[in-house]
Order: sequence, then structure tokens, then C-alpha cells
Amino acid sequence: MPFPHPVKGCRLALASGGRGGKLTVDMPTNEILLVTISVLATLLVARWNLLRVARRLVEWAHKLRTGEETQKEPLPKTALLWPVVQEVLQMAANLKEARAAAEEEARLRLAGGSRWTPERLKGHVRSILHGRSFLVIANREPYTHIRDGGRIKCVTPASGLVTAVEPVLRACGGTWVASASGDADRETADEHGRLRVPPDAPVYTLKRVWLTEEEEEGYYYGFSNEGLWPLCHIAHTRPVFRVEDWKQYCSVNGKFAEAALQELAGTENPFVLIQDYHFALLPRLIRERRPDAKIAIFWHIPWPNPEAFGICPWGRELLLGMLGADLIGFHIQAHCNNFLDTVDRLLESRIDWEQFAVNRAEHKTTIKPFPIGIAPNREPAEGKNGVGGPIPREQVLNRLKLQVKWVGVGVDRIDYTKGIAERFLAIERFLEKYPEYRENFVFAELAAPSRTSIKRYHDLGAELELEVERINQRFQTRNWKPILFLKEHHNREEIDLFYQGADFCLITSLHDGMNLVGKEFVGSRSDEHGTLILSRFAGASRELRDALLVNPYDIDEVAEAIHDAVTMSTDEQKARMSRMRAVLDEHNVYRWAADITTELDQIRPDS
Ligand code: G6P
Repeated sequence: MPFPHPVKGCRLALASGGRGGKLTVDMPTNEILLVTISVLATLLVARWNLLRVARRLVEWAHKLRTGEETQKEPLPKTALLWPVVQEVLQMAANLKEARAAAEEEARLRLAGGSRWTPERLKGHVRSILHGRSFLVIANREPYTHIRDGGRIKCVTPASGLVTAVEPVLRACGGTWVASASGDADRETADEHGRLRVPPDAPVYTLKRVWLTEEEEEGYYYGFSNEGLWPLCHIAHTRPVFRVEDWKQYCSVNGKFAEAALQELAGTENPFVLIQDYHFALLPRLIRERRPDAKIAIFWHIPWPNPEAFGICPWGRELLLGMLGADLIGFHIQAHCNNFLDTVDRLLESRIDWEQFAVNRAEHKTTIKPFPIGIAPNREPAEGKNGVGGPIPREQVLNRLKLQVKWVGVGVDRIDYTKGIAERFLAIERFLEKYPEYRENFVFAELAAPSRTSIKRYHDLGAELELEVERINQRFQTRNWKPILFLKEHHNREEIDLFYQGADFCLITSLHDGMNLVGKEFVGSRSDEHGTLILSRFAGASRELRDALLVNPYDIDEVAEAIHDAVTMSTDEQKARMSRMRAVLDEHNVYRWAADITTELDQIRPDS
């Protein structure tokens, strides 16, 4: 009997697992009473608390479902239920996004608009694919996991390619095959290197491929970035071609082909979209093993003329690799023309100049321009405090701790093609010519270190610092210096804040396939203020005709453009900005993806 009665002390007997023995504890009756009461009281309080939070959750969810205001009464942050609250908040965010998308769709349908949205792209790609696989291969991964103290942090790398391609995968689903790059990448993926992303609301698969140090050295730093990158950009940095780098480039292309083929196993007529100069050999390697695949390669950087390209010792191999694709895309027509000229000069083939196609070894490859865009901001410039609309400028400048009247901004990877030194010289010239702006003007350069294992990149970072120091010392006063050189990785929110506080954004690329920074600046200015100064040697200058177009080598011209930007009337800023925003809206990244997939779909199999 567990509770013998009536005695002063009582005997509590518990079954002790295992051999069926008994555990007995002597305890006075009033203590039992006390324990029982306090257990009951604790249970009641906990129940009351849980019920209260549950009731709040239900009310909140009801309001959300019926479209009532929920922001004024935030959810309780009870530690016990915090994981549940977090999930609910995430669901709410997804619901809000889905509603906004549906409203936008309806609005566009009513307006008879032709604008591409993620939903429209999703439907379009689904109707093309009919359940077939959609595989994207790009060297840079969209999410990298890195160790930060005891925690693992998920970071989006600074890369124009990621900015452009990620929204497409978000819309269409599918698989992105990329090089692993973070020191915590392995433990955040499964044994096949796969994980579902984006981490907060997964919709597609990221498949990581691990490279050895030698492979990364030869394929990425060596052949891709010391060879092909300077070869394709006219920026007066001499390409370096080493045979060991070429061997690694070939072997890593082979490794990615294997990874892609694994992902394609068991599928029929898949769509494969290869990105960029890291994978020139991949189209052919995949076609040889999967002739049923529809393959496109998009070259995000310029293509040089045949004389310039001709110095590459493995030029023919690169072309043959690329021509394994059904479709080769560049940003602009001039790069397509250069490519066709190069094929004409280096290979035996039949070029169809009317259709912009190469016929070789019974295979046809179409060459076309597809100018890439950005994903439109759904909630443009909305303050993170949840209050809609752009943040007032004074508030932005306060947050950035900038106490000046005029602000300029530049955002780049530290790369010799970006003309960052030329930009600083133009600022120096501007302050020389227009001294009245001194102490009232700041130029913030948000510069993300990039490819620093390559000597030229490493040296460039140091050269730029010296240049900034020289210019600052020339003009600075006790409380002011003209250039802020912010040499670190910045996240989206930080960059957006600078975009919104800036009177102008300055892009001085010496040569650039497209340049998405200019498009992002314009996309972020829902207030229609601010001016874009853009190099005429960036692909984006073909579309953004309302920017102030400059030759970055002409320092005086850029200095004058800065002056024009800070003196431009509000009406003119608005007119230019709204025209550029309309162009961006029309030619966004969803249209880019839709155009490529449509083109690929229309390509007939070789007879
Ligand atoms: C820029 C180019 C892309 C290229 C990327 C590589 O964004 O426009 O064409 O793929 O750089 O950058 P990464 O940091 O991956 O070397």
C-alpha cells in the first residue's frame, strides 16, 4: 500500500524499476499536503499562463486571417512558447507575402500589364517543364554557413550573380549546384551535400560540391580569375595562363558535370542552366552523357573581340565546350557579335548570321542577348519598424551618422574592373573645382573584399586605402573628411540604407557585363529622388539611358557629373528616376529567366 493511514509520518512507496524492489521515503502528512498544494498551484499558474498565451495566439491568428491590423499588438515573447511564436510569425510573414503577390497579380491582370512577377514566372516555368527537372549550376553558392564564435551564421555572399539568380530559384524551385565556401557548410548539409534553402522558408535545393585547396587555387583563383576574368574585361590587367590552372579548370568542370549528372539521374529531358565563365566546358560534358537535356550557358561577363580572345592558349577548347549548349546568352548584342566573330575565326563551323546560331558537328547553338535585371522590391524602402513608405532622409542620415548635406555612394566588390581609384580621383577633382561642397559632402564607398588570395586584388585593396588617405588628408578638417572607405562585407539592409540616404550613386566600371548596383540603387528609390551616374562601359548603360552616362577614364567628366547630380532639380531627378524605374520594372529578373526558358523550350532537338 503506497499511503498507509492514519499515522503521523507516512510512508511513500515507489516502484523502483529493474528488479521490482520498493523505494520508501518517510514524510509527515502536513508536508505532503504542502507539496500537493504547491504542485497544484504551480500547475494552475502554468495552465493559466499557457491558456492566456494560447488565447492571444488564437486571437492574433484570427486577426491575421481576416486581414485585421496585427502590428499594434505584438505577440507575447514567453520563453516557454517562443519556438511556437517564432513559427507563427514566420507563417504570418509568408501569408503576408502571398497576399501581396496575389493582390499584385490581380492588379496587373486588371491593368492588362505585361510585367513579370515571381508567380507568373513560376506558372510559366511549370507549364514549360511539365514536371521535368530544373537545374542551375553556378560556382558561387547563395548561402554560405560560417562559424562565428560558438554559433553558425548563414551569410549571403556579395555577388551580382547571386543577386540575380537567387530570386529565380525562389520562384521556380529546382536545384542549384555550387561550390561549398563556408567553414560550417559540411555540417549544415546532408551526406550528399544537399540542403533546402532559403533557411527561413525553404523552396529549393542547394547542392554543395567540395573542392580541394589545389582545385580551388587552380580552377577558381587561377584559370577563372587570373585568366578568363582579365581576358574578357578590357581593364588593362594582363591575363595569366598557367598549364596547371588549366588542368584544374578541366578537372573541376568534370567534377561539376558528375554532380549535375547525379542530380539528373532518373529524370527525362531536364533543363540545365549553367552560369558564367567558371564552367565553359560543362555544356559539352553534360551533353555527351545526357543528349536529352536542354542546356543553356549564360556568360555574365563581357566577351572580347577575336584578337583579344585569341591570346588564350586553350581558346578552341573553351569554345568547343560552350558550343555543347543549345543556347548561349550574353547581356548585350555586342558580346554576342564578338562571340560569333571569335567562333568564326577560331573554329570550323557554319555561322548563321541571320539567326545568330553556330552549326557544328550536327549540333546547333543559338546565341542571344538576355539583359539581366533585378527582383523588384515588393515593399519598397519600407522601414524595418513595420511602418510603410520610405524612411525620411534625416532619419537615414542620423542612422548612418552622417552630418552633411550631400551624400554619394558606391557599392562594389574590390575589383580592378570597377574603376574605384578613378572614382576617388573624380571626387578629388570635384572638391578642387567646387570648394563650396567641402565639409558638406561625403562619399561612402561600400567595398567588399573579394578574391584576396590573388595578388592583384590584395594589392588593389591596399592601393585604394592609400589613395583615400591621400585625398582625405588633402581636404579634411577637424570634424570632417570627404571619403568613407568602408572596406568590409555589408548586408542588404545596410546597403539599402546608404542607397536611400544618397543624393547620387556613382558607378565607374572600366568594363562590366551588366552591373546590377545601378539597377539596385534605382530599384531602392521609391521616393524617386537621387541620381545615377553610370559608366558608359557597363552593360546597364544600354538600358538606363536616364542615368548621367560617363567615361570613367575622363576624370573631369565624372567630376562634372557629380556636380550635375548634386545641383539637379527635384523635378528632373523625379522624371529620370521614374523612367528608369519603369525600365527596371519591365525588364526585371523574372522576365530574364522567362525569356531564357522560353527560348530553350523552343529549341528543337538536333535532327
Ligand atoms: C561578378 C560577375 C559575375 C561573377 C561574379 C563572381 O558578380 O558579374 O559574372 O560570377 O562576379 O564573383 P565571385 O565572388 O564568385 O568570384
